[in-house]
Amino acid sequence: MKRYFDLDSWNIVQNYFKDEDNEFCESIFSIGNGYMGQRGNFEEDYTGESLQGSYMAGIYYPDKTRVGWWKNGYPEYFAKVINSTNWIGIKVEVNGENMDIAKGEIEEFKRVLNMKEGYLLREVVLKYKGKRIQIKSKRFVSVKDKEIGVLRYSITPLDFDCEVCFLPYLDGDIKNKDANYGEKFWDEVSKKIEDDRAQLVIKTKKLDFYLCSSMKYDVFKNGEKCNVEYENIEKNKFVGSKIKLKVKRSEEVEIFKYVSNVTSRDFLVTDLIDKGNEILARALKKGFDKLIYEQREALKDKWEKSDIVIEGDEEAQQAIRYNIFQLNQTYTGEDSRLNIGPKGFTGEKYGGSTYWDTEAYCLPFYLATEDMSVARNLLLYRHNQLGRAKENAKKLGFKKGALYPMVTMNGEECHNEWEITFEEIHRNGAIAYAIYRYTNYTGDTEYLFKYGIEVLVEISRFWEERVSFSEEKNQYVILGVTGPNEYENNVNNNWYTNRIAVWTLEYTVKVLEEFKENIKLKVAEEEISKWKDIIANMYYPKNDKLDIFLQQEGYMDKEQLTVEDIPKEERPINQNWSWDRILRSCFIKQADVLQGMYFFQHLYDEDTIRRNFDFYEPKTVHESSLSPCVHSILACKLKRPDKAYELFLRTARLDLDNYNNDTEDGCHITSMAGTWMSVVEGFGGFKVENNMISLSPILPSKWKEFSFRIVFREVMLMVRVSENVIEVENESDKELELIIVGNEYKVDGGKNISVNR
Ligand code: BGC
Repeated sequence: MKRYFDLDSWNIVQNYFKDEDNEFCESIFSIGNGYMGQRGNFEEDYTGESLQGSYMAGIYYPDKTRVGWWKNGYPEYFAKVINSTNWIGIKVEVNGENMDIAKGEIEEFKRVLNMKEGYLLREVVLKYKGKRIQIKSKRFVSVKDKEIGVLRYSITPLDFDCEVCFLPYLDGDIKNKDANYGEKFWDEVSKKIEDDRAQLVIKTKKLDFYLCSSMKYDVFKNGEKCNVEYENIEKNKFVGSKIKLKVKRSEEVEIFKYVSNVTSRDFLVTDLIDKGNEILARALKKGFDKLIYEQREALKDKWEKSDIVIEGDEEAQQAIRYNIFQLNQTYTGEDSRLNIGPKGFTGEKYGGSTYWDTEAYCLPFYLATEDMSVARNLLLYRHNQLGRAKENAKKLGFKKGALYPMVTMNGEECHNEWEITFEEIHRNGAIAYAIYRYTNYTGDTEYLFKYGIEVLVEISRFWEERVSFSEEKNQYVILGVTGPNEYENNVNNNWYTNRIAVWTLEYTVKVLEEFKENIKLKVAEEEISKWKDIIANMYYPKNDKLDIFLQQEGYMDKEQLTVEDIPKEERPINQNWSWDRILRSCFIKQADVLQGMYFFQHLYDEDTIRRNFDFYEPKTVHESSLSPCVHSILACKLKRPDKAYELFLRTARLDLDNYNNDTEDGCHITSMAGTWMSVVEGFGGFKVENNMISLSPILPSKWKEFSFRIVFREVMLMVRVSENVIEVENESDKELELIIVGNEYKVDGGKNISVNR
């Protein structure tokens, strides 16, 4: 495995520079605050390999779908989180020559993502046209003041006197790399430039999202503020000003650039400019040092709730922190219109849209590390889109019920890969399961009675219509689906889909019957009895000889191989085999039957899980980043710490080690939540059952100790697991009853207990 970065528990440090790794590193060094995000691009010009990327949460573009042969049901558009104004840019000229790092010789290079304090740092010594120049930059997007981004950038000519010209700018003339027709998505609305301030307002060509970026800069030489002259530059969708300074050898000239980005998602279009100015003024009043202090404090708070400490394994420690850092940068949960794109703010792939990833993978992290309003907002997002999900079902020919899209921004289906994914109706089940998970964790019945139940009923109605009755089997079947394993499409009776459909019906009926008095929504008796009939008579494919659930009918007709049989040079198969060959093979992209074993652990005994794991895991190529984490958790359950650790490390370091060779497209944010699950639910054996926390930890041999915090119904717990002891500290003032390795304990507020392992 190639190592790109130094091992360091709180920092990601890049100590070398290679053009061919640059786009990958730009993804890794992304910063964000849930409201906006920025790839690790250079501030100055760089004409080498680079994807300039600056993204605003919830601002998207409905790019017209690109397909060969249009079929009924195709989504009209593919939504894309859109690359917006480059607000970090500073062009630099030295003695009249534009400085382009790609054209210089890099003598020293260091890029550091400080995860503890939440900033990105870069230090370079560049030989340019025979002269040595030192460049330093530090930047962050404020976690406290979401619309603010700030940077400090400096140049020191190391062995010559020169004239330095800075050109700080705002550039809205930006293209999405993944635009289907190469089209630019933004139009200019207005721009203004005055002395050391500039403002640019742009608007999307469709949907009318407005973005107003405002900047102000200050220039310093040797720490003293300079009074400089400006030459203003205005072009289409571009504003900036040139500032020229005479600089002696070893003198440092620095520029502080303060920016506010405000959008019409949050403010009236007519107020945008004033709001932009107001927020910028707030940033200026605080200044760089105060803003960075606030950033440190905000990050401290986040880490206090979500940090995981692993003793004895630097590789794992760095990786888990990186995963948590990115999750906290991507979604902060104040706004129920927002969700979590598979790449967060780190790239364009997957369009920044919402997938089942949120419900199946991300929810547990936010549930356990934040106030419950954060996870609730993720659920409300789907409730708000219920009407669209019903429309979506209608469009596909259903008379009733709701089918949530596989990919969405506003509730409408908008997937580019429609051919593969439209039959992945299992997504509907994950949304129902998330409602159960949330309610089970928080006890928030108010949500369940008012919102959750509406979603459950409509999803159940969908399943009712989507199943069919097989006369031959005398049972219900679900035909023509794609399971989570996308390496097989249009299969009949995918076990996972049948199982989650029935589970949804069971849960919905249970909620309706148990809380009859509390729920206003009325469902007809005939409907409920139809659901019960489906529950009782669903067909599940299985293999009696092996005593396992069968992924789908006909799976055993395939040549039964294991991943060991694939030559190393042919992996990943999705980059080396034809699609036809993949579809015919027995190889599984990601957990499918085992996804069900994970969700429904409480419903199956350990032997059943073991038999299915032993059959399916060796056939799984884990070519979805979402795969290893689920397998790691199941391996923990089966008390196989070595296997669990191997899979954990794969998920945890997936991006840092560029395991799937695709991180240049962006980091796998949603799978990062799976990494968290593998530690807390896997090694920690954490679950919530009957309103109680339960822990049954195992320790990988490499770890001396690990600890994590959990917020559970207003109680904050610290769990520490070492070779001999499990220690639980109740950091709140409320008493807590919990189960540790099968036994019940009571921990008073402010107290801790230790249980021998
Ligand atoms: C996986 C899906 C997932 C999507 C986005 C695909 O590769 O197969 O399950 O929803 O990526 O992460």
